[in-house]
Amino acid sequence: MGKMKIIVTGTGYVGLVAGVCFAEKGYDVTCVDVDEEKIEKLSNGISTIYEEGLEELLKKNIKKGNLHFTINYKDAYKDADVIFIGVGTPEGKDGAANLFYVETVSRQIAETIEKDCLVVVKSTVPVGTNDKVETFIKEDLVNNVKVEVASNPEFLSQGHAVRDTFEAKRIIIGTNSQKAEKLLKEIYEPFNLPIVSVSRRSAEMIKYACNNFLALKISYMNDIANLCELVGADINEVATGMSYDNRIGADFLRAGIGYGGSCFPKDTKALKYLAKQNDYTLRTVQSAIEINEEQKIKLYKKACERLNTFEGSKVAILGVAFKVGTDDLREAPSLINIDLLLERGANIYAYDPVAIENLKKRYSTRIHYTTNIEEAIKDSNVCFIFTEWEQIKEFKPRKYKELMKMPIIYDGRNIYDTKEMKENKIEYYSIGR
Ligand code: UGA
Repeated sequence: MGKMKIIVTGTGYVGLVAGVCFAEKGYDVTCVDVDEEKIEKLSNGISTIYEEGLEELLKKNIKKGNLHFTINYKDAYKDADVIFIGVGTPEGKDGAANLFYVETVSRQIAETIEKDCLVVVKSTVPVGTNDKVETFIKEDLVNNVKVEVASNPEFLSQGHAVRDTFEAKRIIIGTNSQKAEKLLKEIYEPFNLPIVSVSRRSAEMIKYACNNFLALKISYMNDIANLCELVGADINEVATGMSYDNRIGADFLRAGIGYGGSCFPKDTKALKYLAKQNDYTLRTVQSAIEINEEQKIKLYKKACERLNTFEGSKVAILGVAFKVGTDDLREAPSLINIDLLLERGANIYAYDPVAIENLKKRYSTRIHYTTNIEEAIKDSNVCFIFTEWEQIKEFKPRKYKELMKMPIIYDGRNIYDTKEMKENKIEYYSIGR
């Protein structure tokens, strides 16, 4: 076979990063999306998402001729060797994943391919979706060609997506035929990473099981943190003590304002729904979801008790992104807090090193936007911290005391040392300490 022609459809986090990384490995890659504006930008080497190192690789591979972008899916699909589906699976009614885009793309593939082709589902989809994709394609297939369908879930995390792709802990490939397995293994060969080859349904489940486990881990730490507060222990110290046990693992032990983002909130609800559909109650996941919902507004509630009113108060908000390293606001715990504070008449001054533009799209003139921490906290009555950005971590506690009208801080990320805050005469509330 000549140079393998790879198509990636959907240029969100999953699709775009996969496309760029396959191109970097020397494949001939075309990324397809329905969003004309996005495709125009990407064709010009401008990344549509904020990801370290991505734009550089994007530009480099466009220049090399390895990477193309188009809205014309017909031309792209017709002579493809492999088509990766990386379109969104948004949360639908009852928390079920909405498979509308996956179905649309599957049918478009069926109508246009002119040679044998492997279709790989990269989007996070409920168990059984690969079977459905195969059915959609078989139903609508126009030409006499063979199509294989495989599952290849994505484990990258936002903020270091490129690194996560090249240094992935494992590649999961779920196939129901040796032909598909062989081809997918071949595609991933240049990455030189461990490959775990399983059935399609197991592959689909692995993705949910991983994300739900991590969400559980966070909710567990938040649960323990809340108890720590009541019994006078410090969750940061507790987490450090726990982290030495390899069976527990040192990562994802950070208690805080709750998990957000485009994955955990959606995937926990989707798995809960999948269980329900099968007459099973996933009690662990159910609890993780409930704890997370409460955790997001824990500090707000504390502040309500302490301050009585927010009417006309200047409220500083430091960090709005759902985590560091991204400008993404999807399901960010900051949002529900901003909404509640606005309802109660607060005058909000927000700071975030990268997510301000996205915040403006959501709140327009309803809140104030600042370009630095000083501006946000100056003369403020209270300050909330929602993302653990370096800029905030490095900001000296004494400056809060100097600049704020009342030095009261609610820190959802346990950034500061409690003793240091006390020494600086700052009224400091954090999580589980
Ligand atoms: C997550 C997974 O980590 C990836 O492996 C997965 O591929 C991805 O979802 C996906 O399904 O696409 P991501 O949502 O980018 O990645 O971000 P995480 O770093 O996992 O953080 C999720 C949320 O948990 C953030 O709000 C973060 O602040 C919070 N978190 C994380 C904690 O509150 N405590 C921790 O100890 C770790």
